[in-house]
Amino acid sequence: MKFAQSTTQTIVLIAFFAAVLCPKLFAMTTDLKPLNLRTEYKITPVTDVVKPRLSWELTATGRGQVQTAYQLLVASSSELLASDKADLWNSNKVIGNTTNQVEYGGKPLASRTVCFWKVRSWDKTGQPGPWSATAKWEMGLLNKADWKAEWIGNDLTALGKGKTYQLPPAPFFRKETQLKGSVKRARLYVTSLGLYEFQLNGKRIGKDYFTPGWTDYNKRVYYQTYDVTSDVKAGKNALGAVIADGWYAGYLGYALLVGNPVVRNFYGNVPLLKAQLEVEYTSGEKETIASDQTWKTNHGPIVEADLLNGETYNANLEFDNWSKAGYDDSKWKNSAIYPDKPERKIEAYPGNTIQVFQELKAKTVTPKAGGRYLFDLGQNFAGLVRLNVKGNKGDTITLKFGEVLFPNGEIMTENLRKARATDTYILKGKKEGETWTPKFTYHGFQYVEVSGFRTAPGLEAITGIVLSSATPSAGSFETDNKLINKLYENIVWTQRSNYFDVPTDCPQRDERLGWTGDAQAYIQSATFNNDISAFFTKWLVDLNDAQRADHTYPIYAPAPNVRKTDTYSPGWSEAGIICPYTIYKTYGDTKVIREFWPNMVAYLKFMEAKSKGEYVYKEASFEDISPKGGFGDWLSVGKKTPPDLLATMYYGYVASMMAEMAKAIGKLDESAYYDAIFTKIKQALLTHYTDKTGKFKTNSAAYGDGNGYVDGEMGFDGHTQTAYANAIYMHMLMPELNQKAGNWLVDLIKANNNKLSTGFLGVKPLLPALSSTGHSNEAYKLLLSTEYPSWGFEVKNGANTIWERWNSYIKGKGFENNAGMNSFNHYAFGSVNEWLFDYAAGLKVGEAGYRTFTIKPEIAKEGINEVKATYRSINGMIETGWKKTGSAISLTITVPVNTIATVFIPTTNPATVLEAKKAIKTNPAINIKGFKEGYLQVEIGSGTYQFTSQN
Ligand code: BGC
Repeated sequence: MKFAQSTTQTIVLIAFFAAVLCPKLFAMTTDLKPLNLRTEYKITPVTDVVKPRLSWELTATGRGQVQTAYQLLVASSSELLASDKADLWNSNKVIGNTTNQVEYGGKPLASRTVCFWKVRSWDKTGQPGPWSATAKWEMGLLNKADWKAEWIGNDLTALGKGKTYQLPPAPFFRKETQLKGSVKRARLYVTSLGLYEFQLNGKRIGKDYFTPGWTDYNKRVYYQTYDVTSDVKAGKNALGAVIADGWYAGYLGYALLVGNPVVRNFYGNVPLLKAQLEVEYTSGEKETIASDQTWKTNHGPIVEADLLNGETYNANLEFDNWSKAGYDDSKWKNSAIYPDKPERKIEAYPGNTIQVFQELKAKTVTPKAGGRYLFDLGQNFAGLVRLNVKGNKGDTITLKFGEVLFPNGEIMTENLRKARATDTYILKGKKEGETWTPKFTYHGFQYVEVSGFRTAPGLEAITGIVLSSATPSAGSFETDNKLINKLYENIVWTQRSNYFDVPTDCPQRDERLGWTGDAQAYIQSATFNNDISAFFTKWLVDLNDAQRADHTYPIYAPAPNVRKTDTYSPGWSEAGIICPYTIYKTYGDTKVIREFWPNMVAYLKFMEAKSKGEYVYKEASFEDISPKGGFGDWLSVGKKTPPDLLATMYYGYVASMMAEMAKAIGKLDESAYYDAIFTKIKQALLTHYTDKTGKFKTNSAAYGDGNGYVDGEMGFDGHTQTAYANAIYMHMLMPELNQKAGNWLVDLIKANNNKLSTGFLGVKPLLPALSSTGHSNEAYKLLLSTEYPSWGFEVKNGANTIWERWNSYIKGKGFENNAGMNSFNHYAFGSVNEWLFDYAAGLKVGEAGYRTFTIKPEIAKEGINEVKATYRSINGMIETGWKKTGSAISLTITVPVNTIATVFIPTTNPATVLEAKKAIKTNPAINIKGFKEGYLQVEIGSGTYQFTSQN
């Protein structure tokens, strides 16, 4: 006791003298604190990236806080880390403001290593802040040799010989095992060619759906890792799995519709399972239970299971307790072993798996003729339903799914085309009733038509299960205008429905493909709603795996060739450049650039060759693809913008991105090279496609009668909204001509009765082009319009998602185009989201990863008086909002620690600008840059600011 006391006194004394002698060391501590620690964009992931990238966000009170240095500690146990013993990596103090994309730089990591880590940061005065909470990641199986499991299967193809649809049942697998003692750690590594659901001792493992996800299974397949320590026990255990065709062996896209010689089995005929349970006993001994021929297999209640066509379940064929120990499987047979493809990689899933987002209670149930009942779930979405039913053994319940109703109140399913999208449940007649949710199909729908009930069902008979890739929410957008709020909500629902392992075009009809044009047009919009970093880390691999032999990127990826003539298309293929570029800009991710650089360079080479060294695609340059010229400004209204003119602009656009990306990875020569190409393209575009005044023109005679081109019969014109919108957006024009182009764009809109005429490629740049040339009033008018064609027209006609066509449904009139193409859940026209955030809220990325950004809100003249947006960037939470009250404008802005915002405060008189009701001149946190074109420009560091100004 005495000793302890004197020790404490000595420490206090030493500290006191030290503080006097070295005041710097003992100055006030900082509250700069790292949080949201992530590895490879994810919280607590299992990864096989050998040098995973770490990131953290920072918070601190006060203003203008930055990180001047950081230190990372990585240890192999939480105890070691707690006592600062970094046995794997101590980065030591690293000077700089980097808080993300920091590559692990410690000891090489072996398969299965669990890495615990923490970080601390030094603030602007050089004070170290507290350590973060502990985070961790785990290394997956790094080598194929780590896999002891075989591919096992049960060929049931002979049982799938229906007339229109050949749908075999789903095979079940089981294995019992005796575990020798108490278990310290257990991991399940599992994958399939096809889809799997895994169970242990009667319990479903994980909350993921449609695993292992869609890839080019000839090249790679992903696996999932589950910590199942608490799901196994000493003694008898049972492992069970059920697998289905999925993307591997099931129907894909419109193959059936277009009469493709192959309609299913694009990657293989028989779905296969590969799984191993690795157990470490408390004794330290290890054991692996791996799939092999001793796993028993059978087929049972899942009689049909197909992504597009639905699931049929006969509850009378259930095997009770089949995945529990003690089940009698003597009638089951042994599994067959299938050879591995040596070239097929097996890797840890890098994306966000599909999970349940929410459940939707039925809003209404309406009886219909013929014993049918129509359930309305109140929202169009992608997912499933849970059926709750009581009835007799053998009763059959049939569920049909539709997005909308005919004006007569009947469910509309024509727009599903060849997707049967029908689920069937055959009752076993349990007295208490039975519930069922399919596992291996999904639908895009709001309405469910159910037949086969014995008595009138209540609302609880059907529950909607919303599924989506679990991309974390990242942003919000709100105004004082209901129409716009609804539009935003619709955009978010549409993204949720279509970010479904790959970015799909739609969730309902026989398509659901990773259309590259849709993906590139919408990606920037998507970044504002959700954190799509991991989702695109995955899909960019799919996209590059699908790069064609001629080095073009395909029109959809993965690219199983659902129609023989599907190749590439300008405006679609450029996703190969635009998507990695957007991921780089948004998250500061240079790895995607390095990883895919050779592929991107190869594509640019193709484009150069295709331009015959002229750096412009003259009319009819793409007659060799189908449709001729590619898809062009798909679904535009009125005369077509020549696809070759658009292709030329896209070529310039991606060349400029290549220049920027080359610079970001230190390839300065290549950067200069692509800059020079960009200049050549701009010049060639001007020479070939503009007249003396700079107006876009085209030689439409070159397209003949337009036959073979999308909407070719409507004729071609260079002087279109889409042409100017793209030219401005892509910086194809010199400043003077750019301004003229903005004016022509306004003229064209006026001449078109103040309506837009743009399609897939023209919509996204339309409002940004208007705003960036000083025409935000016109942009707001288009945004707020409720006349066809407009976003408001959809909302007015009852949309709760974004539609494929501006007039997918008209109240009182119904539909046109149903059987052709009429999706009610298609995000392409939702790309207006980009303008909502970039211009209405005014947030634009500067330095990659929002290390710097600008806030320059475009204040609406009428219709909207208030806008609020939040965006959680990789550098932390950004908030921006403006409000107009009479002649006063207030601006509320939050800037995250370690970032700098350039804010443009709208005002006619800079002297009226206040922050927190005080003059800004003397505020040391605000760096005034100048007054120009109706905005006072200031630079601010972290903190929350309340600006007001007079106009
Ligand atoms: C898809 C689109 C896609 C297009 C190609 C359609 O059927 O649904 O979204 O981009 O084909 O033009």
